[in-house]
Amino acid sequence: MKNNFKFQNPTQLIFGKGTIAHLAQELPKNEKILVTYGGGSVKQNGVYEQVCRALQGFNYIEFWGIEPNPTVETLRKAIALGKQEKITYILAVGGGSVIDGTKLISAAIPYDGDAWDLVLKPSKIGKMVPFASVLTLPATGSEMNCGAVISNAEKKEKYAFYSSFPQFSILDPTVTFSLPDFQIACGIADTFIHVLEQYLTVTDESPLMDRWSEGIMQTLIELAPKIKADKTNYEMMAEFMLCATMALNGFTAMGVTEDWATHLIGHEITALHGITHGQTLAIVLQGTMQVMREQKKAKLLQFGERVFNILEGTEEQRIDKTIDACEQFFCAIGLVTKLHELNIGEETINTIKERFLSRGTRLGERGNIDGYVAEEILKKCL
Ligand code: NZQ
Ligand code: ZN
Repeated sequence: MKNNFKFQNPTQLIFGKGTIAHLAQELPKNEKILVTYGGGSVKQNGVYEQVCRALQGFNYIEFWGIEPNPTVETLRKAIALGKQEKITYILAVGGGSVIDGTKLISAAIPYDGDAWDLVLKPSKIGKMVPFASVLTLPATGSEMNCGAVISNAEKKEKYAFYSSFPQFSILDPTVTFSLPDFQIACGIADTFIHVLEQYLTVTDESPLMDRWSEGIMQTLIELAPKIKADKTNYEMMAEFMLCATMALNGFTAMGVTEDWATHLIGHEITALHGITHGQTLAIVLQGTMQVMREQKKAKLLQFGERVFNILEGTEEQRIDKTIDACEQFFCAIGLVTKLHELNIGEETINTIKERFLSRGTRLGERGNIDGYVAEEILKKCL
């Protein structure tokens, strides 16, 4: 381990079958609780019923309708309700969108100005209302990290900000059985690419972090076809759920260089076209690997060798095979890998280039991915 680092993750994970009932012991008594939900999938799969049973005797109200890619417009309503009802604790029940939205609600209830200020300038976040989560979709890691990604529907923008961690998160893998196949595929791609964004930079910083990351990616490659064959396979879904949490809770990032270029380009595609997050990543990744192949060469070769067992050919051929192997993996789980398959073309690429140039965006482990390089990356994904 070459580099110094600080690490702290305070979230308690409560994992396994039947764990939603633990809410009754884990939630603090004597608080006024806001329970936040998405669009209603929890009413079909029994999660809502289990939460209500566990919350008997607690003083709580509900907020419904946090949408995928949660918008500040919707969250402002929850924040107003939270202020009016003097909420002192929040429980998020849902996927990454509900948990991310809850992070903004938690920061904005004690804040006097508009919530969007906090997304743009998280340094304005002061006191936060404590919160916890019941996770229903393995993908984002939001259940055990302090990040949140919030959209502004009016401006067609989407930004990440960092605030605080859930106090505890309940992960019962049986709740994932009701997920649509597409959401599972997006969750697998998101998890895989979270690991890659913390890995595909430079070599020889930490053999432990490298192997931890490679282990998560190998596990996903092994699990994916089994989950595709039967998404009610408890052990496989449980393993996937844990992979997703471990991929973005800081455990693979200790002392290593990161590059979130694929994510930040993907967020623009979601902001402009509403495409599901994991799907955008499965498209953009190949472009990032192609265009940055020289800079990322040593790590790409290690990735190909250790994760996909690519040992034959020249260095350039091995990198090509590695990029192909990723694309095949995403296709096999049911995602598309080209922009034209979603009817997205040059116009969007130009908008993203202009946005990055006007914001002075610089991504990549060396800060050398600007609007022009992002354009080049996206052109590889057409
Ligand atoms: O809203 P409901 O009706 O609950 O339906 C949801 C939603 O339509 C449904 N769903 C969730 N659990 C289900 C279920 N359907 C059936 N059975 C279940 N058990 O799935 C749909 C998608 O949910 P969503 O929460 O949007 O998905 P995900 O967890 O992938 O979250 C995506 C959001 O997280 C952000 C993304 O940008 C995006 O806005 N991310 C957050 C990160 C973080 N906090 O660290 C990092 C990620 O890179 C990502 O950017
Ligand atoms: Zn992601």
